[in-house]
Order: sequence, then C-alpha cells, then structure tokens
Amino acid sequence: MGKEEFTLSNGIKIPAAAFGTYKAADGKSAEVIGMAIRAGYRYFDTASFYGTEEYLAQAIEESGIPRNSFFITSKLWKEEMGYENAKAAFQRSLERLKTDYLDMYLIHWPLPDPAYSNWKELDAETWRALEELYRAGKVRAIGLSNFLPHHVDNILANCEVPPTVDQIEYHPGYSQEAAVRYCRDKGILVQAWSPLGRTRVLQDPLILSMAEKYGVTPAKICLAFAVQRGVQPLPKASSPERMKENLDLFSFELEQEDIWRLATMPQTGWSGEHPDRVRVRYEDMK
Ligand SMILES: NC(=O)c1ccc[n+]([C@@H]2O[C@H](COP(=O)([O-])OP(=O)(O)OC[C@H]3O[C@@H](n4cnc5c(N)ncnc54)[C@H](OP(=O)(O)O)[C@@H]3O)[C@@H](O)[C@H]2O)c1
Repeated sequence: MGKEEFTLSNGIKIPAAAFGTYKAADGKSAEVIGMAIRAGYRYFDTASFYGTEEYLAQAIEESGIPRNSFFITSKLWKEEMGYENAKAAFQRSLERLKTDYLDMYLIHWPLPDPAYSNWKELDAETWRALEELYRAGKVRAIGLSNFLPHHVDNILANCEVPPTVDQIEYHPGYSQEAAVRYCRDKGILVQAWSPLGRTRVLQDPLILSMAEKYGVTPAKICLAFAVQRGVQPLPKASSPERMKENLDLFSFELEQEDIWRLATMPQTGWSGEHPDRVRVRYEDMK
C-alpha cells in the first residue's frame, strides 16, 4: 500500500490526504478552507459548480504558503462541456483561483443530462480541450469524474492523453466495484467523493461494530476502506478536530475479511446521483 501519496499514470505524485470543498464555504467565507490549510491539508478539491474557487484562492493567499506547495483540482460543469466551452471554463477557473495553472482538471459529469444522446461526441470534444491544456503546460494532470466504464471506454478510444483519475461516489454501501476494478485495470486512480457517505453510513451497525473492534471512529473505517483498496478519499469537514482525524489515513489497517464485508454490505447511503439516471432524492429512498 502506497503511503502519504499516490502516483498518477503520468508520473505525478499527489498528497494522499485531500480536502473536499463542496459546501465548505456555506458561510460565504474562506474560513473553513483556511482552517484546513492550518490543519495540514495541501490538496484541495474544488469545481466551478461549488462556488468555492474564490474562497480557496483567498485562503491560500492568506496562508502565506507558496502556490506550488498546494495541489489544486477543479472541474468543468455540465453546461461548460464542449471544446471551446471547456477552454473558456478553464480560464474562468484560473481567474477565480488567482493562479496561472491547475494541478488537475476534470470533466465533472459525462452527460449534461441523462437524456443527452450525443454524449460520446461531446465528451471526446471536451477531452480534446483538456488534452490541449495539458500539452500547453497549463494543467499537470487531466481526468474524469462520475464516468462509468462505458463512458471511460469512449474517452480511451478517442484520446491521445489518457485520463489519470476518475472521481466517483465511493463509500461502504456504495463502492461501485465494477467501476473501481475497471479503472484499476486501465491505470486510472479512483478518487472517492462522499467517502463518508456524507455521514449517511456512519451509524450502520457493521461500521459501528468495526469502529469498536479497531478502537477508531466510524469515519476512520470509511477512510481505511478507501485507501486500502487503492482509492483516494476526498472528505470534507468543518472542524479542526475532524479535519485532523481525516488527515490520518494510515494509522491502522483493516483485516482483509473486514474489507470484504464492507465491499459486499447491502447498498446503503447512495446519494441518489447516477450519470445515466434522473437524480433520486435520498429522502424518497428511505
Ligand atoms: N465529483 C463529484 O461529483 C462530487 C460530488 C460530491 C462531492 N464531491 C467532492 O467530495 C467531497 C466530499 O464529499 P461530501 O462532502 O459529499 O461527503 P463526505 O466527505 O463523505 O461527508 C461530509 C460530511 O461528513 C462529516 N464529517 C467529516 N469528517 C467527519 C468525521 N471525522 N466524523 C464524523 N463526521 C465527519 C462532515 O461534517 P462537518 O462538515 O459538519 O464537519 C460532513 O457533514 C466534496 O467536498 C467534494 O469535493 C465530488
């Protein structure tokens, strides 16, 4: 198991501990992100959709820590797909982030909406823009988010630069085994969004029993379930205590038997989001 960092297929090393910024600036300030920097995070996951790019820029500026000590990922949103659109979206992200390069740039979703029939061409065109940005040295790595194997196949069939990561929902109860195995076979690092199931899985009896067995919190069980399967978790937290807890990814190891239990537990905690389906409201699933 690689520790403290992951290596992407293009040779770039990235910090293993990363901080997700979705809803991390609900108070409309850079405060939470500043707290995460002080807790020790250097990898930040943002997106044009999150509205946190400006807050991240502000927090980095206020930290006094040089830009090149940070690893910044952003993503283009559904309405920003297409060759010209993607390039313009990238430029807007750079401006909001007050930087002249990104460490990673992702296509946020493979389809603008589930009924969009021409997605293969749209994805290929969008990817061509990302390849150009990569070759021009404006971004150090390019990748995907919420792409399932059939979507990634289309990129691989049409690309010159292969994607380095695929960021998908991943947590006990929704660990997308087929997509994870597919990505591993293709040398694509899986990143886990909602690695704690947005707290929906933290009270599950299996996870609670493992937390007791290992003497750790339920959140730590979820994070170990990611890193021990070669998946990079991107947790979001609001307090320094939780931030520090989530930074510590390698202090204990789950036994293989427990990993299988977590990987095969009945589906629970799914967000209701799926690229090929209309969103299901979590409240309606219960
Ligand atoms: N690519 C995509 O489509 C996509 C979609 C969704 C998310 N993401 C990325 O993934 C990141 C994380 O996902 P997420 O925010 O949905 O879910 P998450 O990280 O699974 O869960 C966040 C929730 O867990 C709580 N929490 C954090 N650490 C905890 C701990 N140690 N113990 C107990 N509770 C804890 C947080 O509470 P407090 O905040 O109150 O501390 C928050 O309510 C996002 O911020 C975003 O960067 C990407």
